[in-house]
Amino acid sequence: MKPLDVYPLFDISLVKGEGCHVWDDKGNKYLDLYGGHAVISIGHNHPKWTKAIKKATKKLAYYSNSVHLPLQEKLAQKLGELSGYPNYNLFLCNSGAEANENALKLASFTNQRNKIIAFKGAFHGRTAAAVAVTDNPKIKPPINPDDHVIFLPLNDKIALEKAFSEHEICAVIIEPFQGVNGIYEAKHTFLKAISALCKKNMSLFIIDEIQSGYGRTGHFFAHQWAFVKPDIITMAKGMGNGFPIAGILVNPEIKVWHGMLGTTFGGAPMACAAGLSVLKTIESEKLIERNVGLGEYFIEKLRALPFIKEIRGRGLILGVEFDFPIKGLRERLVYEKHIFTGNASNPNTLRFLPPMNIRKKDIDKTIKALQDLLSTNP
Ligand SMILES: Cc1ncc(COP(=O)(O)O)c(C=O)c1O
Repeated sequence: MKPLDVYPLFDISLVKGEGCHVWDDKGNKYLDLYGGHAVISIGHNHPKWTKAIKKATKKLAYYSNSVHLPLQEKLAQKLGELSGYPNYNLFLCNSGAEANENALKLASFTNQRNKIIAFKGAFHGRTAAAVAVTDNPKIKPPINPDDHVIFLPLNDKIALEKAFSEHEICAVIIEPFQGVNGIYEAKHTFLKAISALCKKNMSLFIIDEIQSGYGRTGHFFAHQWAFVKPDIITMAKGMGNGFPIAGILVNPEIKVWHGMLGTTFGGAPMACAAGLSVLKTIESEKLIERNVGLGEYFIEKLRALPFIKEIRGRGLILGVEFDFPIKGLRERLVYEKHIFTGNASNPNTLRFLPPMNIRKKDIDKTIKALQDLLSTNP
């Protein structure tokens, strides 16, 4: 048996990781400027993370959500403290798609409506409700209809007001930075308009922080730059630093009942141990505080490079749009310079989502590599 061939792969076999680096089976060292798809928040195989998981496997690796699980309660407490949402409630699951699936279900249960506003270019995952609000027909099979979803242009306030005036809206779901699309920011005034319209119309405001959250932008969540308070916040990727864990933060005014949401693996002790070690490390290594400065440093250096059309993002979530398709450049970065970066739906955009313990010298190395490659034939 072989793995199902659904992923385009680099011809590289990775066998080891540490900090911002990974190694292949031939001993080559790579700088990971993409954090394994925005997942590695505190660094590959961080010793505190490894220790916490080991400890959980020795004590209690798994039990279901039919008993109190102290590690789950500790994780909720710490997350409330660091995120600035101490009075919200936490539901844990296993992946980003699942987090959005549960957020959308919760919204629909709450106001008994089904019309959702989502945005052109959005990516929210591949499960039924999540893929319906994702703007990519190629990944929507016929069993996932999206006729209950209104796709609006990002940052178009007039279109947003019109949709609210014409329909009873269940919820609005939005990424503060559209990640997969190429790091396009939802304007702060737009997020404020969504928040106000949702309140006025008894609709729910769902923010997808799966890629942009967990400290990357210099606040715990990217939407906190806009001073809005969504009803439901979805999280995944950086939450477990590679251990599968995801969740939603829920406004305490939303009424829930037993059995409304549920999952077998979500919130199990081993996942919570990983999640808790991530939060403790973010706090003790002051990782959030560094990100604004590091992002500004990176952007300043990128600005000096040729062929760049636009640089988007904040902190350590950056999209760099060149005036040519970046497929070849990205491959040369990996094979010749041993640097991993990400691509995006926008074929001219390179994505940078490095581990948050990246150092200035790693940024300098990346800039030097880009300078070299761009000075030959990009
Ligand atoms: C913003 C956003 N939402 C949801 C998802 C889906 O997460 P997962 O792949 O863990 O299901 C992703 C994944 O890239 C994402 O970037």
